[in-house]
Amino acid sequence: MNHETVFVVDFGGQYTQLIVRRVRELGVYSEMIPWTTAADKIRQDRPTAVILSGGPRSVLETGAPDLDFSVLDGIPTLAICYGHQLMALRLGGCVEKATHKEYGYRTLVPTPSGLVVNEEEVGEAERLRTKPHSLVAGLSSNQVWMSHGDQVLEVPEGFTVTASTDSCPIAAYENVGQKRFGVQFHPEVSHTPDGRSILRRFLFDQAGLKGDWTSESFIEEQIAKIRETVGPEGKVLCAVSGGVDSSVMAALLIQAIGDRAVCVFVDHGLLRKGEAEQVVETFGGHFQANLKAFYEHDRFFGALSGLTDPEKKRKAVGEQFVRVFEDHANELQGCDFLAQGTLYPDVIESGSPTAAKIKTHHNVGGLPDWMRMKLIEPLRWLFKDEVRNVGRKLGLPEDMVEREPFPGPGLAVRVLGEVTPERVRMTQEADWIFRSVLKERGQNKGIWQSYAALLDVRSVGVMGDERTYEQPIVLRAVESEDAMTARAVNIPFDTLEHIASRIVNEVQGVNRVFYDLTSKPPATIELE
Ligand code: XMP
Repeated sequence: MNHETVFVVDFGGQYTQLIVRRVRELGVYSEMIPWTTAADKIRQDRPTAVILSGGPRSVLETGAPDLDFSVLDGIPTLAICYGHQLMALRLGGCVEKATHKEYGYRTLVPTPSGLVVNEEEVGEAERLRTKPHSLVAGLSSNQVWMSHGDQVLEVPEGFTVTASTDSCPIAAYENVGQKRFGVQFHPEVSHTPDGRSILRRFLFDQAGLKGDWTSESFIEEQIAKIRETVGPEGKVLCAVSGGVDSSVMAALLIQAIGDRAVCVFVDHGLLRKGEAEQVVETFGGHFQANLKAFYEHDRFFGALSGLTDPEKKRKAVGEQFVRVFEDHANELQGCDFLAQGTLYPDVIESGSPTAAKIKTHHNVGGLPDWMRMKLIEPLRWLFKDEVRNVGRKLGLPEDMVEREPFPGPGLAVRVLGEVTPERVRMTQEADWIFRSVLKERGQNKGIWQSYAALLDVRSVGVMGDERTYEQPIVLRAVESEDAMTARAVNIPFDTLEHIASRIVNEVQGVNRVFYDLTSKPPATIELE
């Protein structure tokens, strides 16, 4: 490996990804590896440091996740929760089976013997075991978050207990000479207020890392990698959708190989107001990219004509993407690689033996044979917020970098019933008003997705003494961590009222506005 790397060994803990994120926030590149293949990977790649995660099993059970600790010789190791117990057990200590589970806040009491240091009186070995090197002494807050059953009863020979809590006598232990540290609690969660100091001490003071992994260094490294993979002549096909991931990916490729990054944008007429224009302006204008923008509204609306079933609509949109690629094969053929905006959470989930299978949305139907090229996935090491930072550094407009997730079939799944240009226009305008007002009032913070959809019914209203018989808009705004679950956002009533009034007054054809309060599950985020 050519940069400092911390491997986080996953024993199935619920916070493992969070450990990776915390380490990266401290400027150190980190990767999660499953325990099943960890020993080989560590032996082969020799990471700069290793962190062992928590996990739901008991280390005393047969078949529980395990690790050959000999591969860690000479590699600074921080063992958390399950890892803390496993390290004690495997290095000759003792773990006791739980009689009850301990869950919640505890106060950490650093062990007094670990605090008294007189440099002149103690020998080197003793000095190393005492306070200046303890990960847990002198924290700004001694509150820690516990979530475990079993606990360490005896530390291995050569290790010192450095902290306890009232219910856990060995809450932290270490052997500074061997650079091995164990903590029963979770320094990575926000409920451990000074957990960051523990990670920082481990990474910088003990493992000697520099912490120089930044968006800039990532960009530099990826540009070099892309150039090496693609070679001096190779061309890469980058499909840009207007979303964050594909935009950042394309911007990175443009920077690496200029106009040999062939950017393709299919304007299907189903994006939000102004977004298609922004893609063309950003890539064709600002970046002067080799952009092939295909204006295909008629083709998509033609294929959607008469369709009302959600699945048929999705399929029709997916098929038309393929048709566009086929029809423009002459202009697009000759690329050696296809770039994809895969992100790290997808990589983790598809490689993990424990995680559930990722939800895949097939936005594009079976691709033509000539499109089966070698894949390039330059963002596969990043989390979403890191992708956004890279996008900013590459000069993408803030609107694009902050864009919310958007379904591949676009507004076809937000215009319920038949999708016509007129109904899409109504949805786009209402959507624009909704999101602009939230933004103007600073009420869009923390929202995962917010949008307007058009229902497939009519209702009676009255406007300027005239009877109306028109269609209703539904507004939906949700908070979510990962789109697997979601909750309606508590938008102030006066804002909703203002938005409703503007939509009914400004969007022709709409005479009623609803706000969707349903969570996911049982509803989904999109209406179709
Ligand atoms: P649902 O509606 O299933 O959506 O709760 C979960 C997340 O996925 C997005 N979504 C899609 N993304 N192609 C995509 O690329 C699709 O067909 C699709 N359908 C839903 C949705 O916006 C939400 O973020």
